[in-house]
Amino acid sequence: MKKTLLVTGGAGFIGSHVVRLFVQKYPNYHIVNLDKLTYAGNLENLRDIEQSTNYTFVKGDIIDDQLLASIFEQYKFDGVIHLAAESHVDRSITNPLAFIETNILGTAKLLHAARKAWGQDLEGKLFYHISTDEVYGTLGETGLFEETTAYDPRSPYSASKASSDHLVRAYYHTYHFPVVISNCSNNYGANQFPEKLIPLCIHNIKNNKELPIYGDGKYTRDWLWVNDHASAIDCVFHKGVTGETYNIGGHNEWKNIDLVRLLCDIMDEKLGQTKGSAQELIRFIKDRPGHDRRYAIDASKIAKELGWKPSIQFEEGLANTIDWYLENEEWLASVTSGDYQKYYQKQYK
Ligand code: NAD
Ligand code: TYD
Repeated sequence: MKKTLLVTGGAGFIGSHVVRLFVQKYPNYHIVNLDKLTYAGNLENLRDIEQSTNYTFVKGDIIDDQLLASIFEQYKFDGVIHLAAESHVDRSITNPLAFIETNILGTAKLLHAARKAWGQDLEGKLFYHISTDEVYGTLGETGLFEETTAYDPRSPYSASKASSDHLVRAYYHTYHFPVVISNCSNNYGANQFPEKLIPLCIHNIKNNKELPIYGDGKYTRDWLWVNDHASAIDCVFHKGVTGETYNIGGHNEWKNIDLVRLLCDIMDEKLGQTKGSAQELIRFIKDRPGHDRRYAIDASKIAKELGWKPSIQFEEGLANTIDWYLENEEWLASVTSGDYQKYYQKQYK
């Protein structure tokens, strides 16, 4: 079946994997990627598919009502997959307003534009909002986030994502607007901006720089390979039930320090270094304010109801990811020049 889909934030980390998957897997779909190209958006991420006849890039901001109205009018979208966001917790601590603007106001504007364009003709339409497990707050030593877990966001980032989730659900209840939401755990993989833990450590080990570990390093995250998140998004988009929420995760919990030690060992091997050299770069530094202790996802609903599960084990995914960063030196060099240096100095000095 032919469809025209709007993907927002498609030049970012997860968005670029979603765009590639949809462009290649569904030749009958026309994928329109709307992205502002902030520091995190990079058209290099999509070089291999940018010439595809079923792909169009539009540079723009999701808070621009006029632009939204005009692209909804021009392309007559059947669906929206909304990933555009400010996504880094540390940046949300230093500049919360950017998160409120894009994540809350931007989502509100996108909902408004879609509802206005679709009117009463909602047959076959879907507004799919991509969210995070961070909206659920923090866990103790045990327990998992379920779809029914009460929201308890603790950073400006997670509060802005929680707010956008509430708006999306409000549209479902108030206007019977066809929405679906998924909340995913931490992603890792190719094309992730090196402000996040895994690519930051890979980049620093390559450059023999210190590996900054916040607090005692025993904070726990549940890591999922980005390509598995993209396949889950494909699954929820096509099989998800309107009005429902699906948690997505890898059943793959790691304490930060254990993950970084594993990464160091794999890097030593790949770089032909003596075992233990990269671990010497580890430094425990001042903790992140409001740092959530543990995230872990119960992904049984999406497994049982939609038949999705992750495809690879963490050790394999991590080794592939390291290979990608080692093979794509130019990508890493281009995103770490200029503003990145200023950000790094300010964040870690
Ligand atoms: P990212 O920061 O790598 O990419 C975000 C993209 O959105 C960039 O291309 C950026 O240019 C674009 N963008 C930002 N503001 C915009 C605006 N106002 N208008 C248009 N485009 C704008 O983020 P990511 O890690 O790929 O995350 C994508 C989505 O997935 C986000 O909604 C995030 O909350 C969610 N998510 C991320 C993770 C993760 O581990 N990275 C986990 C769960 C959910
Ligand atoms: P991050 O990749 O920023 O993702 P999130 O905050 O969304 O979970 O961080 C993952 C974990 O790693 C988190 O517990 C914070 C920690 N961390 C560090 O210890 N040092 C760092 O330099 C960064 C960026 C993160």
